[in-house]
Amino acid sequence: MEMAKSMKDEDKMYKFEGVIYSTVMSPAENLEAVKTMEARPDDVMLVAYPKCGFNWMVAVLRKIMAASTGKTDVPDMPPLIEFFSPDTQKFMAQQPSPRFLGTHFHPDKMPASFKEKKTKMLVVWRNPKDTLVSYFHFMNKNPVLPNVEWDKFFSDFMSGEVGWGSYFDHAEAWDKLMDDPNVKIVTYEDLKQDLCGGIREISQFFGFPLTEEQVQKIYSETTFSAMKTGSSHGKMGDVFFRKGEVGDWKNHFSEAQSQQMDEEFSKRLAGTRLGKRLKYDTYCK
Ligand code: A3P
Repeated sequence: MEMAKSMKDEDKMYKFEGVIYSTVMSPAENLEAVKTMEARPDDVMLVAYPKCGFNWMVAVLRKIMAASTGKTDVPDMPPLIEFFSPDTQKFMAQQPSPRFLGTHFHPDKMPASFKEKKTKMLVVWRNPKDTLVSYFHFMNKNPVLPNVEWDKFFSDFMSGEVGWGSYFDHAEAWDKLMDDPNVKIVTYEDLKQDLCGGIREISQFFGFPLTEEQVQKIYSETTFSAMKTGSSHGKMGDVFFRKGEVGDWKNHFSEAQSQQMDEEFSKRLAGTRLGKRLKYDTYCK
């Protein structure tokens, strides 16, 4: 935060191997070091394109793991592996299993070891219109990222010139991995509709059995209002927990922008299984 405050907006993002990252959070030394990270078969890996509900599922998974294993000393640090410095990498290599990890990486940019070790991955998706809106506000609220203006950010998102790359490239890649038994895809919209069902499915997928009472407790602690008013994220609470709704895009998109997104979705994802899971016509029309 301190470093970001003294930086010019144009220096806050940079490109590493063709993809934009935060200069402060993911300097090149982190991204080089993470390539050789050793995954474990029992790591719990959470994956999401930015603003699809990653921090929500961080809270859910931490609580599932703590309730099921009784372990409460899990390091309470941001789990994004691309934020790990080389020293943090070493620290994580010493941690007992099961480790909780996360990433916004495109699957092709993930350390090869995760595939080799058949690490289970929970992947969270969200409709592209609300994802774009959430990303726009995040850019303007998070001091480590440059401020952006709506029309420019809209076109950058559409062309994939945003942190971690193109929403559509990520979605196409995950669509191809939907048959992988070690990959479980959930959507923000389904979780909003039935969070208890989501908690049950996620705990089963990772093999962390929960009693119904534990499910209900985790549910009550991870609704949007519980998390926004909770103290887990300190000063960053307002940055991570904004509106927590489906459909806020209607307050931001012009008619032409909405149409442009509809066309892009139709071209890139409409015929895919992930595209169907996103229920575009319900949430984006
Ligand atoms: P909005 O900006 O639309 O409000 P990420 O954690 O991947 O950065 O995603 C952030 C989005 O998830 C934000 O969306 C945030 O408000 C929303 N979110 C965070 N916690 C949530 C919760 N418990 N329930 C629903 N949405 C939540």
